[in-house]
Amino acid sequence: MHSVETRKKTEEEGKMVEDCSAVNKDAFGIKSHKKYPVVLRAVVLALIMISSIYICSICLSQRELIIIPRGMRVGIKGKTCTRPSISPDELPYTHYPTPVTYTRNECSCTPVRYFAILSMQRSGSGWFETLLNSHINISSNGEIFSVKERRSNISAIMNTLDRVYNLDWFSSASKNECTGAIGFKWMLNQGLMQNHEGIAQYFNQRGVTLIFLFRRNFLRRWVSVLANSHDRDAKQLNGTHKAHVHSRHEADILARYKPTIDVRKLIPDFEHTSKWTADAIQFFEDTHHVVLYYEDIIRNRTKLVDVLDFLRMPHRELKSQHVKIHTRPLSDQIENWDEVSQALKGTKFEVFLNSDHIK
Ligand SMILES: *[C@@H]1O[C@H](CO)[C@@H](O)[C@H](O)[C@H]1NC(C)=O
Ligand SMILES: *[C@@H]1O[C@H](CO)[C@@H](O)[C@H](O)[C@H]1NC(C)=O
Ligand SMILES: *[C@@H]1O[C@H](CO)[C@@H](O)[C@H](O)[C@H]1NC(C)=O
Ligand SMILES: *[C@@H]1O[C@H](CO)[C@@H](O)[C@H](O)[C@H]1NC(C)=O
Repeated sequence: MHSVETRKKTEEEGKMVEDCSAVNKDAFGIKSHKKYPVVLRAVVLALIMISSIYICSICLSQRELIIIPRGMRVGIKGKTCTRPSISPDELPYTHYPTPVTYTRNECSCTPVRYFAILSMQRSGSGWFETLLNSHINISSNGEIFSVKERRSNISAIMNTLDRVYNLDWFSSASKNECTGAIGFKWMLNQGLMQNHEGIAQYFNQRGVTLIFLFRRNFLRRWVSVLANSHDRDAKQLNGTHKAHVHSRHEADILARYKPTIDVRKLIPDFEHTSKWTADAIQFFEDTHHVVLYYEDIIRNRTKLVDVLDFLRMPHRELKSQHVKIHTRPLSDQIENWDEVSQALKGTKFEVFLNSDHIK
């Protein structure tokens, strides 16, 4: 275990041991003065020895405290609190962060879960995140790694993660000091796949749980990618680009655009999506995780209760103002539908053509 926290502790411990030996050096370095009688000298020496043994035993007992598993350490910083009883296999995923920028006050004993939503663009993760953020105890800070500097190398990534999980990251999603689950969403192409080894190690050491959110129908995802990219230039809603909308009216305006799909790129893109999805799950298979599909949540909202259970958060109704943009059958939403369906017929991706349109 060499998590950041443990490293810090080890440094502190190192300092303590130094202090300890300094005490010893001073103690034995005291010059005995000839004028004291032998008995007095012996008494003083004995006292010095007893007190150094005592000081060192404190050092050693502190050291023992440090190797106590996570979650049982709450008392260390002098705070006493009654911890909720948590089953031993849950302990690695329960944390008691101490933010630098504020104190958690009466909630310092409320355990916090660390999570990350791993997804791909246009897979419903924006909608999913607003649902989670409608929960009083959950704070998901958005795509923090869309900013390149934060993902330029593994140390930049870890610094960013440390701030988020220490509850020192502020966004519109931030709750109060009683936050019970803290996370963000991370797209696979935002440095996640390149740095997967270091990141998986971090997640395992810090006890971060992962929520994979993928979309089953790659063709629908592709239509959404093209339409969103079109709107980035066309700015169809009164001159502003919107990746997500809050009204049916706006959704219908965006859905009017029917992309023409370059069929030569279609299958390679699907192969890539399919491989990345599988690789991502494999890279993080040792991490505590759950795999969700957008379509399943759309069809069955009870899946969201499973998510709350997974995060050990109390059940509450989750709400989002997001309105789904593409609701019509795919044949109505692709300009060159005939060409696309010809290209996919007979391939393993044919199934994407036939999927019912989702209400
Ligand atoms: C990592 O990236 C950050 C931010 O871009 C930079 O300041 C830092 O020097 C980089 N560190 C290494 C070891 O490359
Ligand atoms: C949820 O938040 C409320 C109010 O901030 C707090 O009292 C409660 O302890 C929190 N529950 C959990 C499980 O974090
Ligand atoms: C554009 O702005 C006008 C006036 O503010 C408003 O009535 C209309 O609904 C807006 N249109 C869209 C597509 O948002
Ligand atoms: C909806 O999801 C829940 C939880 O995963 C499951 O128990 C239930 O059977 C599902 N209902 C349907 C109709 O698929």
